[in-house]
Amino acid sequence: MMQVVHPPPETRVAVDVAADDMAAVDQVIRERLRSDVVLVNQVAQYIVGAGGKRIRPRLVLLFSAALGFDGPERHTLAAVVEFIHTATLLHDDVVDESMLRRGLATANATFGNAASVLVGDFLYSRAFQMMVSVNRMRVLDVLADATNVIAEGEVLQLMNMHDADLAVDEYLRVIRFKTAKLFEASARLGAVLANAPADVEDSCAGYGRALGTAFQLVDDLLDYEGDTHELGKNVGDDLREGKPTLPLLVAMERARDDERALLRSAIEHGETERLDDVLRIVRDTGALHVTREAAREEAARARDALRVLPPSPHREALLELTFRSVERSS
Ligand code: IPE
Ligand code: IPE
Ligand code: MG
Ligand code: MG
Repeated sequence: MMQVVHPPPETRVAVDVAADDMAAVDQVIRERLRSDVVLVNQVAQYIVGAGGKRIRPRLVLLFSAALGFDGPERHTLAAVVEFIHTATLLHDDVVDESMLRRGLATANATFGNAASVLVGDFLYSRAFQMMVSVNRMRVLDVLADATNVIAEGEVLQLMNMHDADLAVDEYLRVIRFKTAKLFEASARLGAVLANAPADVEDSCAGYGRALGTAFQLVDDLLDYEGDTHELGKNVGDDLREGKPTLPLLVAMERARDDERALLRSAIEHGETERLDDVLRIVRDTGALHVTREAAREEAARARDALRVLPPSPHREALLELTFRSVERSS
């Protein structure tokens, strides 16, 4: 087994080993976003132009580089996963009735629900045109599977809305599907491009799955303790919607009977009148701490999966990502 060193995040030098590659991906994104239909361009430019952390394309690039692949297909597939991600955001903000994304009014707030859903479909199908151009059945296999599972995750979540008795395992299934699956596919694609052996490919996928799970746990945490300005999204959206995420589920388990009744009512009716009381209970029961710890465990699992990679600056960057994803505030 190769040894993976874990220096504390603050001692590591922040050199972006994927900077040139990310610029190339940006170029592909800009070129492939174009359409002759004006509204498609407007909405797509609007959400992509607002930025985003670009974590999923980074995974494609870092895994393919760590495994020695440097063909141009890496840029195509990195753009593909960002398009799929962006399509899910356009759809997700309609479903969640969210008003703020990447520091701007959401596309649905600006252009309406219909335009958001339809341009989301455009981005999905453009992503499929691009992945076909790579001409590898395995790539299609991975991405067809991932998009299908993401859709199932969003539907499962819809079914779980307002369910104050939701089991934690059921919540975890939703986040594995709706979020971790695309992280998993992104990491796996890096290995597929590099023709890595099956066990290595599976470890890369395992990293993506664990990192994506940690990432969504922290997203759910930040919806309670984050800062709207830093996040570029409105905090408190999940509670307003009655979405039973881990902070609420843990608080339900740990609260006193009278407090539990309040939490139940908030989940069942998406109540906001007693928002401050709900927040206090979530905080006082230690539910935010439990959520962060769960994310830390997933991040540690992701780090373990990196043992299959030979030492390289790219492996170091993947390691660093596991720390940053958990301690992030945006
Ligand atoms: C937001 O993803 C949706 C979740 C899975 C939590 P990101 O936090 O990666 O969004 P951007 O692309 O950086 O805006
Ligand atoms: C992630 O869930 C959505 C997708 C994976 C599409 P959220 O609904 O929590 O994401 P945000 O908070 O709106 O970005
Ligand atoms: Mg949402
Ligand atoms: Mg969220």
